[in-house]
Amino acid sequence: MLKIGIVGFGFMGRMHYRCWKARDDAQIAAICDANENIVEDSKKAVGNIEGAEDAVDFTGINIYSDTAKCLTEEKLDAVSIALPTFVHAQYTIEALKSGVHVLCEKPMGLNVTECESMMAAAKSSGKVLQIGHCVRFWPEYAKTKDIVASGEYGKVLAATFQRLAATPTWSQDNWIMDEQRSGGVALDLHIHDTDFVCYLFGMPRAVYSFGGKNSAGKLVHIVTQYLYDDDKVITAEGGWAMMPSFGFEMSFNIVQEKATIVYDCTREPAFKVCPTAGEAFTPEVQAGDGYILQIDHFVRALKGEKITPVTTLEDSRDSVKIVEAEKKSVQTGGIVSLK
Ligand SMILES: NC(=O)c1ccc[n+]([C@@H]2O[C@H](COP(=O)([O-])OP(=O)(O)OC[C@H]3O[C@@H](n4cnc5c(N)ncnc54)[C@H](O)[C@@H]3O)[C@@H](O)[C@H]2O)c1
Repeated sequence: MLKIGIVGFGFMGRMHYRCWKARDDAQIAAICDANENIVEDSKKAVGNIEGAEDAVDFTGINIYSDTAKCLTEEKLDAVSIALPTFVHAQYTIEALKSGVHVLCEKPMGLNVTECESMMAAAKSSGKVLQIGHCVRFWPEYAKTKDIVASGEYGKVLAATFQRLAATPTWSQDNWIMDEQRSGGVALDLHIHDTDFVCYLFGMPRAVYSFGGKNSAGKLVHIVTQYLYDDDKVITAEGGWAMMPSFGFEMSFNIVQEKATIVYDCTREPAFKVCPTAGEAFTPEVQAGDGYILQIDHFVRALKGEKITPVTTLEDSRDSVKIVEAEKKSVQTGGIVSLK
């Protein structure tokens, strides 16, 4: 039985709790959160995606407000780090050095330098570090990766990806809305699609981004063109200035020579392949969601199973690098090379 700790028990910490609790090879031994009232406060927490556990059963789980104490006392096998982004590097490195495997939420760090220090710590510890790029594991996205990679429908001509949400209001002391601590809309939200674009098509040679700013001058909406050596047109749009009644949309359209693949979480059916002739159909996808499936991948890796990695630390670092280039492109108004 794996002994698991969850560090950071806000919106995403509760999502990790749900996934770990559903496994029969793991036991949540400890929860660590700087908020000493976390047991009471977790009853009123919210977030932008359904699935974070509403009712948390703290029976048999030791509660800590000091991570170092938790790591020393608990003899854990692995931790989920669901802390604010500006402390991902610090706590991931501390946990790896203490000898536990780490699943850390995305984005890997605030910048490439932080990512590389996490990679070095993972290497010298010999422990598994995985970054929570859950979209690669999202059943419809994973199926789409397989379909595109198979070449069954010819080459990709164009693709658009959207991730649109209302302004996040739930984070502790509103750290998400502070560009210095979260990296803003591009690093916190839109990176999911940046990372998926790379998963499908590899590292772009350059990016060209445009930003929508609010009246305070903050970037709240970003649209990027990912430029490749061939002529495919790849665009992703991310924004968190939608009105609360809009809800949340993640969607894409992929235009191939012999099919169009569409996904939109707000539609029914959400996922369709529209072939050259005949009716659109919904391919079968794996059961579960991206959070459950990414934890499964993490567990298989730490058990030493031979798996083809769906996400590597280099991938996670590169996604941060591309987002940095996207932000630079918004600021300068020009194309930013990644070579
Ligand atoms: N994968 C996804 O779909 C997804 C979705 C939302 C957020 N995230 C990521 O998850 C991370 C957490 O976001 P969130 O929305 O859960 O934030 P949150 O503010 O809801 O939760 C963060 C928790 O960490 C605690 N905390 C802060 N500093 C701490 C410290 N030093 N030691 C211990 N606890 C501390 C806070 O008290 C809070 O409970 C972020 O990096 C965010 O980008 C990922």
